[in-house]
Amino acid sequence: MHDPEVLRSLHVSRFKYEPEIFAAPGRVNLIGEHTDYAEGFVMPAAIDFATLAAISPRDDDKIIIYSENFKEERTFDAASLPKHGGKDWSDYPLGVIAILAGEGHRIPGLSLSMLGDVPLGSGLSSSAAVEVATALAVTSLLDIDYPRPQLARLCQRAENEFVGANCGIMDQFISANGAANHALLLDCRDLSFKLAPIPASVALVIANTMVKHSVAGGEYTSRRAEVEEAAAVIARHRPEVRFLRDATVDDLDKWGTEMSPNALKRARHVITENTRTVAAADALIRHDLKELGRLMSEAHASYSFDFEASCAEADTMVMLAHNLPGLIGARLTGGGFGGCTINLVEQGRAQEFAKALAASYASETGIVPQIHICHASSGAHKIVASFSH
Ligand code: GLA
Repeated sequence: MHDPEVLRSLHVSRFKYEPEIFAAPGRVNLIGEHTDYAEGFVMPAAIDFATLAAISPRDDDKIIIYSENFKEERTFDAASLPKHGGKDWSDYPLGVIAILAGEGHRIPGLSLSMLGDVPLGSGLSSSAAVEVATALAVTSLLDIDYPRPQLARLCQRAENEFVGANCGIMDQFISANGAANHALLLDCRDLSFKLAPIPASVALVIANTMVKHSVAGGEYTSRRAEVEEAAAVIARHRPEVRFLRDATVDDLDKWGTEMSPNALKRARHVITENTRTVAAADALIRHDLKELGRLMSEAHASYSFDFEASCAEADTMVMLAHNLPGLIGARLTGGGFGGCTINLVEQGRAQEFAKALAASYASETGIVPQIHICHASSGAHKIVASFSH
């Protein structure tokens, strides 16, 4: 995470007003991919990359948003906010503000500065970090206290309705609710969750394939449509099945022929992934790291072969990880089609693992990857610091 003092001083020199500052983390998903919008299970952890948001009130009715990452400023009229984004970086913070306005909150003039270090388009939820940081900042300015699950829902709506990306709830939920040194098993049906401690002996090594992905892109949307097609076919026979969360492999054996071959494969991934995710949380809680690693391998194979959401580079990254000492489990994480792999690695070997993986990936693919040794971090929070000024 960047030093909040950097953002504070940028904000003060631009807006001449002492801000309140909030941080919201990105995330890595240990297991449970494309299950959230099927009301299934996911097990992400918040990580130590984050977006910082500094906020202060204004006398006029303007909403001014400055991004230090883009080095650009945008101005909007608080009284007449747009209903949809304009394919701009500002869609994410503005979408949150617009959804809050739609909830009946009167939005005053405000200045918002943002600075983040979550790598963009890498499957580490940079968008959710921006949304959740904005939501915390603006609700604090409005003096309203949203329960965290509701705050996450509001941010998801900003992405679905304002940005136009059809994502589920996982990313916003973990950014708002993460806990240091823990993964979080989330039931995306009722948003109940259980924390699973990540032992100090386990490092989270995140390996960026450098292949960009986008949730707003067509592949994510078409996979989601196939998952929904499969659920609709099963529902013809078993009306109580509204989402694949309620379906079984047995349902696929019976009625899979009524689906498109793609819908059948996607459904097989989602149904088996739900089972794996619950089992993986159990294994983590029991400290059965061998079983956790096995489930991650299975999850990657299912994501790659049945869901067809991997890419050659990610498959290579996972395959190379398996040749290295210290690996517990590896898989592609996030929305798919590029981005990062998550490697659970024995803590004492994490440095040498990261170095060897970077070297072998570069020589195999010709691409120099970015590898980060991360820590499971706390969810979004206010920065309370005694700045020297
Ligand atoms: C993206 C979406 C999430 C989830 C994952 C896939 O990160 O934002 O809601 O669907 O992809 O598991």
